[in-house]
Amino acid sequence: MPVTIIVGGQWGDEGKGKIVDILSAEADAVARYQGGANAGHTILIEDKQYVLHLIPSGILRDNTSCYIGNGVVVDPDAFLSEVEFLNSEGIDVEGRLFISNNAHLVTPLHILSDKTSESGSNKIGTTLRGIGPAYTDKVSRVGIRAVELLNQDVFKSKLLNNYELLGRHFTGGNGDLPPFNDIFDSYWASASKLIPYLSDVTAQLQELILRGDNLLLEGAQGTYLDVDHGTYPYVTSSNPSAGSACSGVGIGPTKIDRVITVFKAYTTRVGLGPFPTELEDEIGDLIRETGFEFGATTGRERRCGWFDIPFAVRAIGINGTSDIALTKLDVLDGLEEIMLCVGYKLNGEKIDYFPRSIEEMESVVPIYESVPGWKTELKRFSSYSELPDKTKNYISILEDYLKTPIKMISVDPRREKIILR
Ligand code: GDP
Ligand code: IMO
Ligand code: MG
Repeated sequence: MPVTIIVGGQWGDEGKGKIVDILSAEADAVARYQGGANAGHTILIEDKQYVLHLIPSGILRDNTSCYIGNGVVVDPDAFLSEVEFLNSEGIDVEGRLFISNNAHLVTPLHILSDKTSESGSNKIGTTLRGIGPAYTDKVSRVGIRAVELLNQDVFKSKLLNNYELLGRHFTGGNGDLPPFNDIFDSYWASASKLIPYLSDVTAQLQELILRGDNLLLEGAQGTYLDVDHGTYPYVTSSNPSAGSACSGVGIGPTKIDRVITVFKAYTTRVGLGPFPTELEDEIGDLIRETGFEFGATTGRERRCGWFDIPFAVRAIGINGTSDIALTKLDVLDGLEEIMLCVGYKLNGEKIDYFPRSIEEMESVVPIYESVPGWKTELKRFSSYSELPDKTKNYISILEDYLKTPIKMISVDPRREKIILR
């Protein structure tokens, strides 16, 4: 598997953390390539739950080194509290956790700015982690890269520049913000603790690839939160899809051997934006309760709905998926029938194209195919052959539509519960 990308095929929270953790058993290194502490990747080992926001999900394996790539935006407080949490759990990260010199920093100004825009009329339902403003500064070429921490004067002048720029968005100018020196002092106190983790991650990963080591590139969010391919503007501010894994760490596309796209057996989304198969009824509530669909980062309720084939087919194309990891199949255990959205109607007519705009996505009416439920508790099974015929039928219908093999099937949140094919 030398270089494998793990990417979410829907709107995030597909169970990427669990899949990365499982594959990490055989991996030498895991790198995050985009996103920031907006992610929440959950791993359950026996009864102990770990939720990682910035640190790659390989960190729970002693022999795996972990990298935060240049494409990630790093909030120092979020990073340090994760390190502290891991240390308190007896997990030593020293010498095997690195932050790219070129990764951009999330500053308190970004978080303030995120909160301010979310209180206005263009609300997206963000995680309020400063992600959008941090990427905006990066693209505007006024961002602060992690390497700037090596020179306090440069770092301070860049932060001051950002402070002055942000002041322009307030009627009272900088007078509406806390004094600069207060922001600088407290931010520097935590951000400077990142210095020991800084490194040339691109060079490290290239060396590792030359050696033939196994590397996992861990995506955050999902294909439809992608700023280009997602339900814009209800997206995140990076490119979660597999294409950005290369630029997000600094390796070329010829080095990628496998792309695993993770799909939930149904669909969820947190925050605002179109969701054609959303269930605002008792089945949606049942899925939310059974699947415990509450955000790992913000605790918000996740909106729930049926699996959407046209969205999944497109995600497979966008990501160049080699194979699929299907998660949370057990959440459907109690259902008499399971619906699969196989197409849409718009204004009463079946459409033969993918909905083009947000307005179309909000107006389409899904065309459903009913598949019988299995009414059996799946978590007791550990091999494909043991699965009920009706479960195999659901998987095989999905494979027929998606024209892609489902090689991993997850039927329980715990690490050891995975069915490999
Ligand atoms: P990620 O952001 O893609 O890593 O996913 P999250 O961790 O945000 O959300 C996935 C949730 O589903 C977590 O609470 C996992 O513990 C849980 N989970 C993962 N796989 C399964 C599964 O197969 N069955 C059930 N019931 N829960 C799962
Ligand atoms: P993981 O990696 C689900 C959503 C937010 C909001 C939109 C923009 O755990 O799958 P942002 O804070 O990024 O500017 O918010 O994106 N969002 C996620 N939804 N899983 C995530 O990450 C998400 N990260 C961001 O809810 O709708
Ligand atoms: Mg998550």
